Amino acid sequence: MLILSIETSCDETSAAVVKDGPSTELGTSLEILSNIISSQVDFHRKYGGIVPELAARKHVEVISPVIKEAMDSAGVSFKDLSAVAITYGPGLIGSLIVGLSAAKAIAYAMDIPLIGVNHLEAHLYANFLNSPPSSPSLIKRGGNPNKVREEVSFPFISLLVSGGHTMLILVEGHGKYKVLGQTRDDAAGEAFDKVARFLKLGYPGGPIIDKLAKEGNPKAIKFTRPMIGDGYDFSFSGIKTAVVNLVNKTKDQRPKTEDLVASFQQAIVDVLVEKAIRAAEEYGCKTIALAGGVAANSCLREGMRAKAEEKGIELLVPSLILCTDNAAMVGARGYYLLKEGKPSNFDLPAVASLRL
Ligand code: KG4
Ligand code: ZN
Repeated sequence: MLILSIETSCDETSAAVVKDGPSTELGTSLEILSNIISSQVDFHRKYGGIVPELAARKHVEVISPVIKEAMDSAGVSFKDLSAVAITYGPGLIGSLIVGLSAAKAIAYAMDIPLIGVNHLEAHLYANFLNSPPSSPSLIKRGGNPNKVREEVSFPFISLLVSGGHTMLILVEGHGKYKVLGQTRDDAAGEAFDKVARFLKLGYPGGPIIDKLAKEGNPKAIKFTRPMIGDGYDFSFSGIKTAVVNLVNKTKDQRPKTEDLVASFQQAIVDVLVEKAIRAAEEYGCKTIALAGGVAANSCLREGMRAKAEEKGIELLVPSLILCTDNAAMVGARGYYLLKEGKPSNFDLPAVASLRL
């Protein structure tokens, strides 16, 4: 099966070609033949955040060349395709419509199935594409960690952390989710972005804080760890406000920015790690899978790795490029939907607030 997948839910225009590899006793491996990502981040930077109307227009400009590049670099033509997978929500409505229209046009013209994919599920399915070379269990099982990954075994806990969502999910099977907890206010990525904006560090905040925090002392300021021992929901707006209050109160002798962001980041990571590990233990899961843009955070990756190792839990972490928005992850979810015989109708609408 050869799937063209498209992602335009936010400010990345992406197209990928994903192919199923040989079946083993562990399942089918999925191979990424191409994964082209055109980011609008430089364009939105001057506004300090994404301007939805401009994002949609940028998608219109680049969607065709991005799809062409994905097809060319995979070395395939439209007639080789088995299906077109497309993110239909959640996301910015104007942005979603651009990708959805392109996907419908190609699927209709080639008379192949259209597969609507939930963006949140797509982030989870990045874990079905590959795993970092450091994943000992994968290497033990003889997988090629750089290219393909064998089927993940259920049940597992997924920590999905992005710009719009923070969720702990018990994944019981393909498409079978139990949301154990989610954020009551800001998403983890949103907190990074807001703190960076407040400190005038630039946009998007996550990667900037990640880098700057490496120069700082994470123990310099003791921020509270909100709700750390309390269920599986999250609340991050309090830490963000604590940063703002501290800076406003200590105007002249404000702590070093590096220490400030390192301490802020550590507080968020501590809460995420603690809850993910507790969920895995309580629900008897041997695996935790990270997903979403914030899963690219080096402190979270290292913190989760260390704690998972200590507890004997397998940790799956998508490669950096598969954590943030990309079309290959959409193809991965699309592949399983196609295999289960669940294509979409051609009147599939874009759904801005689609839930898991
Ligand atoms: O998954 P994603 O690309 O888009 C959404 O679906 O939201 O996530 C984007 C979010 C942004 O808030 C960005 O600041 C954050 O992920 N992010 C990071 C890092 N890289 C991206 N946050 C912390 N550390 C990073 N290295
Ligand atoms: Zn995303």
